[in-house]
Amino acid sequence: MKKRYFTLLFLSVLVFLSIPYGLMTQSREIAIRNLTKKVVSYSIKTSHASPASKKMRLEAGELELFSDGFSLIISFDSQGQTITYRLDPGMAYTFRDNEEGELELYEGSHSRTDAPDLAPYVSTPMVVVEKMLEMAKVTKSDILYDLGCGDGRIVIIAAKKFGTRGVGIDLDPERIKESNAYAKLAGVEDLVEFRLEDVMKSNISEATVVTLYLLPESNAILRPILERQLKEGARVVSHNYHMPDWQAREIGYTEVTTGDGETHTIFVYKK
Ligand SMILES: C[S@@+](CC[C@H](N)C(=O)[O-])C[C@H]1O[C@@H](n2cnc3c(N)ncnc32)[C@H](O)[C@@H]1O
Repeated sequence: MKKRYFTLLFLSVLVFLSIPYGLMTQSREIAIRNLTKKVVSYSIKTSHASPASKKMRLEAGELELFSDGFSLIISFDSQGQTITYRLDPGMAYTFRDNEEGELELYEGSHSRTDAPDLAPYVSTPMVVVEKMLEMAKVTKSDILYDLGCGDGRIVIIAAKKFGTRGVGIDLDPERIKESNAYAKLAGVEDLVEFRLEDVMKSNISEATVVTLYLLPESNAILRPILERQLKEGARVVSHNYHMPDWQAREIGYTEVTTGDGETHTIFVYKK
């Protein structure tokens, strides 16, 4: 009886201690980044308190942090319409101009404040992966880097199909865990490596093929890095979005329609 009492007491102390510890270790900040080229005006109010809202401005490329640990309601104008969202603690959000030039806010795939969230996590359909590799003429002697690799599928399929060595880089630890597990399942662990890194800070100079499935403005941000680091002749394959100002480097373009009727575009460039 006494033993059971002490076990219960011990467990309760553990639970009691783990709650504040969990709160302390998990970031409750809300991060909003402006990836557009202009100042964005928006208003913010806390979802639990007074209806008063605060007007805010975010310069191009800047980051705003809200550390109160509460949800927030954000409103901003896009093409004459007021858009309102709830923002949750521990999450990162990014303003971007979509392909129609409308201002939108997307929920990022990681909540790191020291690195831009270049795209939410959406994987490339397998038929599109196959086509990207075919268009880039990937072979066994290539070294393929997927910048923002998600579940690692592009790197893994290239290794499996052509024996290509590859590196996948992502900032989301879940994605890196998945990538390593899939590589093991596919039996290509010796050919591939997955790195938990911000692609903006990665060394990609050994890549002979780079694959991207990000967003147009993220491609634009990455372009100087590709220009600086890649060797002459390296191929860059981008799913859905072109590389701004690289028309002269374009060596291939195609469209792939998937089973759900959605059309995907693929752009291939050569440095
Ligand atoms: C649209 S998904 C593409 C996944 C994969 N390349 C594919 O085509 O299936 C974009 C990925 O980029 C990652 N990402 C976003 N910003 C990043 C950054 N600064 N550094 C590394 N990865 C990033 C996201 O976590 C996400 O997994």
